[in-house]
Amino acid sequence: MLVPTILCGGSGSRLWPVSRELDPKPFIALPDGQTLLQKSYVLGAGLPDVREVITITRQSLFFRVESEIRQLAGTKPDLTFILEPFGRNTAAAVAASALYVAQTHGEDTVQLILAADHLITDPVAFAGAVAQAEALARNGKIVTFGIQPDAPETGYGYIEANGTDILRFVEKPSLEKAEEFVRSGRFFWNSGMFCFTAGTMLRELAEHCPDVLEATRVSIEAAMAATKDKRVIEFDPRLFERVRDTSIDIAVMEKSQRGAVVACDIGWSDIGSWDALSALLPADANGNRLQGDVLIEDSKNCFIQSAGRLFGVLGVEDLIVVDTPDAVLITHKDRTQDVKRLFTELKRRN
Ligand code: GDD
Ligand code: MG
Repeated sequence: MLVPTILCGGSGSRLWPVSRELDPKPFIALPDGQTLLQKSYVLGAGLPDVREVITITRQSLFFRVESEIRQLAGTKPDLTFILEPFGRNTAAAVAASALYVAQTHGEDTVQLILAADHLITDPVAFAGAVAQAEALARNGKIVTFGIQPDAPETGYGYIEANGTDILRFVEKPSLEKAEEFVRSGRFFWNSGMFCFTAGTMLRELAEHCPDVLEATRVSIEAAMAATKDKRVIEFDPRLFERVRDTSIDIAVMEKSQRGAVVACDIGWSDIGSWDALSALLPADANGNRLQGDVLIEDSKNCFIQSAGRLFGVLGVEDLIVVDTPDAVLITHKDRTQDVKRLFTELKRRN
């Protein structure tokens, strides 16, 4: 049995104003209408031997997350939701899911952690990579999915490997390091998915961040004891607030001796910015990508997304405009990575 486990949190600050605290990146809809969260669900639920899919998310997002997933799920697989009162980052979320899986299905059960904020366009290649990862996971490895890097991105984890063994895992390096890693040709990007048995993950957490494991154990045990149907497990904020905020990449992957990597070409993209997101839309003859009601003349390489009102655009180039009912983003194509600065400033003001 394989248990896909979707991590759905985070805020996606570079995709403001569409992605916000209450409307984070997993809810961004792609041109085909499906959200990133729904795409992750479809990918996981479509794998062989899946009887249950776990989603870990914030309590405040639960109704939205559940309805998005239920729209796609038939009666199978079973759906389980673990609800956090607030985000404590991915180490806690992974620990909670592994504790739940070990208790309900046994320590040898293989889990597949999926992010809810990226896109994979080749499900067949993905299923092949997961099959390889499962075999390694059954041998006690924590398996990552390595992507060939094409730029010195500093928002990713970097993996240096020897065959399938990880020699070194470096989370979010400096630009200098990232450039060195990409130049060397020896590193992969970490795609943010992980495959392991619940038992292996629990042993690695116990070794490398026992405080996170123990505080999360107290939270999940109390939550499981308090739920009747076991399908919606909700943490008590007074217990969960004791859990340290750290990512699985830093807490475990940078330290573990059990890391493995499956190199894959699965059409992965992080869709981390408006530039990346707009690239999913077809461009017209002038390189413009338009959504909604837009009248455009003498303009090139613009991305204009209207939320309903009519936009008239004339004589501009490389412009990004994203409209929502109460906020509009206007920026240059080359500055979309910096949109998080606006987001941070707004958060400070509120
Ligand atoms: N439930 C829950 N709770 N989910 C969370 C939380 C949390 O507190 N924090 C983050 N997540 C979810 C996000 O929604 C996303 O689906 C996934 O966990 C990864 O978290 P991010 O915060 O987006 O991580 P990142 O993008 O900075 O880095 C990770 O992904 C990169 C690839 O996109 C790392 O694994 C990097 O090594 C990797 O390269
Ligand atoms: Mg991310």
